[in-house]
Amino acid sequence: MRVDAVGNIFARRVGTDGSAAPVMTGSHLDTQPLGGRFDGILGVLSGLEIVRTLNDAGIQHERPIDVVCWTDEEGSRFGAGCVGSNAFIGKLSVVDTLAMADADGNSIGDELQRIGYAGPETVGGFEIDSFFEIHIEQGPILERQGLQIGAVEGAQASTGYMVTVTGEEGHAGTLPMVLRKDTMHGAARMIDAVDNTALAFDPYPVITVGHLRVRPNSRNTIPGQVIFSIDSRHPDNDTLAASGQAMKSACEAIAKERGLGLDIEQTSHRDAVSFDPSCVQAVRDASDALGFPCMNIFSGAGHDAINLSHVCPSGMIFIPCEDGITHNELENARSEDLTAGTDVLMHALLHRAGRV
Ligand code: GLV
Ligand code: MN
Ligand code: MN
Repeated sequence: MRVDAVGNIFARRVGTDGSAAPVMTGSHLDTQPLGGRFDGILGVLSGLEIVRTLNDAGIQHERPIDVVCWTDEEGSRFGAGCVGSNAFIGKLSVVDTLAMADADGNSIGDELQRIGYAGPETVGGFEIDSFFEIHIEQGPILERQGLQIGAVEGAQASTGYMVTVTGEEGHAGTLPMVLRKDTMHGAARMIDAVDNTALAFDPYPVITVGHLRVRPNSRNTIPGQVIFSIDSRHPDNDTLAASGQAMKSACEAIAKERGLGLDIEQTSHRDAVSFDPSCVQAVRDASDALGFPCMNIFSGAGHDAINLSHVCPSGMIFIPCEDGITHNELENARSEDLTAGTDVLMHALLHRAGRV
């Protein structure tokens, strides 16, 4: 077991070739505020189950098999997702990673120290043969098709923003409406405009405003500052950029009309990716060999495997989840699908690691 300086946890099952780069699998254990139990967690526990199975069956492989738990994939607390894998591939510096803070000002660095996961290992810097991640689909496609395995071909692009609207606090009872610099009203109009702007594109990006901070957040004070997040995603990089520009212009026009200050900070960006064809094929071959019906599928959600695809051949396995529900306590998956996906993952790993 090794823990690196941003809290990524690695476990290794050694191979017969001590100098070979590892085949890696894993996902994340952090969740959204309301759960659920499978998003991320499945990918870590499947890796551990595979190692136990290989131990029980006495199976050996040439390359090491590493199981990883990436730090803070969801990004629901510190503002941007896939933090541990971003640091691992060098997209985010270790210093910047540790300095990321939540709404109460607690930094990732301080919180890792507090829970004992500020590890001694260098972040990244070692070669990986390939990376595979198993995950619930988080959508309805596999379930509706009655299929157990999705061989993930790629994932859409994504950009995150934090929008800060500044105006003036004032008394709810005394300040005439026409004299107000009400940031809540301005932000509400901006959120509506962001939605409408996105829908003007064909095909349109998916846009979510899921986080709002109001200052001073008091019933009878006109809010002097509102901060809100925008999460925008599209399979095409250029369309995503164009829709981002259109959203900014719409917010700027409202801020100008209302005499409000506006700052739009881009907090994250990820281009669309295609997974390595040989990894996609390894998933398909394992499904076929085991007799599980399989289809190729595209990911709407972000995953650590998307980051890893920039440093090594990578692939993903999706399994169905009930009614496509996720980021919710109701998230659920059938035991037979979890088993099938883990079985496919084990065979893809062994194919790549070279079963002895
Ligand atoms: C993670 O769930 C994401 O897609 O943002
Ligand atoms: Mn996840
Ligand atoms: Mn998630």
